[in-house]
Amino acid sequence: MGRACESVDRIPTVCGSGSLPCALGVGALGGDEPRCGSDKVARKADNLRVGRVSIFSLAGKRALVTGAGSGIGEAIVKTFAAAGAAVMVVDVNDAAGRQTVEKVNADGGEAVFRQMDVSDAAACNHLASEVIGSDGRLDILVNNAGIGHVGTILQTEGDDLDRLYRVNVRGIFNLCKAFLPHMIEVSAGNIINLASIGGVVAVRDRLAYCTTKFAVVGLTKSIALDHAKQGIRCNCICPGRVETPFVTARLKEYADPEAAYQKMASTQALGRMAKPLEIAHAALYLAADESSFVTGTDFLIDGGWSAGK
Ligand SMILES: NC(=O)c1ccc[n+]([C@@H]2O[C@H](COP(=O)([O-])OP(=O)(O)OC[C@H]3O[C@@H](n4cnc5c(N)ncnc54)[C@H](O)[C@@H]3O)[C@@H](O)[C@H]2O)c1
Repeated sequence: MGRACESVDRIPTVCGSGSLPCALGVGALGGDEPRCGSDKVARKADNLRVGRVSIFSLAGKRALVTGAGSGIGEAIVKTFAAAGAAVMVVDVNDAAGRQTVEKVNADGGEAVFRQMDVSDAAACNHLASEVIGSDGRLDILVNNAGIGHVGTILQTEGDDLDRLYRVNVRGIFNLCKAFLPHMIEVSAGNIINLASIGGVVAVRDRLAYCTTKFAVVGLTKSIALDHAKQGIRCNCICPGRVETPFVTARLKEYADPEAAYQKMASTQALGRMAKPLEIAHAALYLAADESSFVTGTDFLIDGGWSAGK
């Protein structure tokens, strides 16, 4: 990342008041003025310091996370805010998105909410111009929103595939396309996409899901390659199964949800599903300057699923 990244050592009492107002609204992600941050946020970021070396600090960075009203997205927002970033929470679910923001703000972090469907290209463009404005910026874009479906090709309708494609692929395409011109202009941008183990190996009964997640890996690598010399990094995370409402919803599609849960847990060599925070930590690494040589990767966080059977 070429943009300024203050170490936590340099964000003592930014903004003086220690209040959040200037973080609320688009102002949180715009302008080059000293970053508005509460003392609480500085203290939280300070927790990530080892000796005098700052690790994985996002102090001074502005991030946007989609699908952040639940599961992995919510965990990423909390982790980024704890590392000192100002975060915009985007979700199609108004109540869920607001709840994430309330939790982060109550904990002393900086977050704002925008209700939006990532499959709506016009809304994505509008959001980008609102966030960037005349002098704003976005350092980290996390395309996490995603939906699933259970079924072989014979149990999948064309509409199912289109529905998943619109969110899982077009959603990422829309936001990357909306924010990339600005990131290229400032020669700095960090994009993190949520793919899946199902984007690297096929998963039984997940025809539509795997089709879209393989596309996410391809889209990620293409952006990484095309724009590496313009200061852009683009990576994706490929989790195994993670205990989130997403998985709970899929389990309900099985005749015996409990048996399905055990079967899903056993696909990981570790014999369990991941916690959302275990995925958020990978996102933090990719978002931080410590991963500055990492681009175009499909980062497997799969409990050993892909190591072999
Ligand atoms: N949970 C897992 O086991 C797992 C494994 C691998 C990959 N993933 C991927 O990680 C991401 C997050 O998964 P999760 O388990 O946290 O899901 P989740 O269902 O718990 O949360 C997804 C969030 O995305 C939002 N969303 C859905 N469609 C949207 C849209 N069109 N626009 C904006 N927001 C939208 C939902 O409202 C929800 O808040 C997804 O891309 C998923 O495919 C999940």
